[in-house]
Amino acid sequence: MADASPPTAPHAPLPRHYADSGQRDRYVRALFDRGAPSYDRINRIFSLGTGARYRRDALRRAGLAPGKRLLDVATGTGLVAREAVAILGSASDVVGLDLSAGMLREARAGLTIPLVQARAEALPLADASVDLVSMGYALRHVPDLVLAFAEFRRVLRPGGRVLLLEIDQPASTLALAALRFYLGRVVPGLSRWVGQGEKDSRMMRYFWDTIDTCVPPEAIEAALARAGFTGIGCEVQLGIFRAYGAVSA
Ligand SMILES: C[S@@+](CC[C@H](N)C(=O)[O-])C[C@H]1O[C@@H](n2cnc3c(N)ncnc32)[C@H](O)[C@@H]1O
Repeated sequence: MADASPPTAPHAPLPRHYADSGQRDRYVRALFDRGAPSYDRINRIFSLGTGARYRRDALRRAGLAPGKRLLDVATGTGLVAREAVAILGSASDVVGLDLSAGMLREARAGLTIPLVQARAEALPLADASVDLVSMGYALRHVPDLVLAFAEFRRVLRPGGRVLLLEIDQPASTLALAALRFYLGRVVPGLSRWVGQGEKDSRMMRYFWDTIDTCVPPEAIEAALARAGFTGIGCEVQLGIFRAYGAVSA
């Protein structure tokens, strides 16, 4: 009998970037490895308000406070982890995890937290070992949302929370056209000059293409529910910045 569960990939394969889905993994890793040295600079210039303050406020609203332990999945250069350390006042209570060795190298330059090279969908952490799992702007890159969210739930203590930051397409056609022009054309074009040429332009083009083709917010919330989370909610700012939150029962 066919599996009745809906597919939980965050987006369909992107032939503009890789020939088939079997190559996606290698493509994503190489993309972020190469783009890592320019990531913070590009982010600072084009972040649209998703900067340090936004990340720190989101962590606070998710309940991060001194004494708690956080796992930051897809930490990249550590932009979320850095804000978590500032809130906790302790580098040893934050673990950063990422697929890309290049990103972790950049993170290591500015952070003293434990950094682990691993995948969101196979976390090398013990069951019930953290109070909060955060993931900033990376759910579009995992191969399977339910698989990754189930892993988040496994490592969370009962009552622990997950926080997922994401950019979504705005509902208004005009706003969507403006965002598409900015993130799909302006940012990749200028990243070639602001960053280090074609590889950074490609990274930012991929950034937009995955937003443009991402499953809708309801599918992300449904994946959280299928992974066993409760109390699922989402704060939306300016129609595009989404902070999903949920509780591990
Ligand atoms: C756009 S960056 C986000 C970095 C950071 N969280 C932030 O807020 O800016 C996406 C990151 O996801 C990582 N990534 C992609 N797929 C992953 C996976 N399956 N498991 C863990 N990390 C992954 C990439 O290496 C990259 O560092």
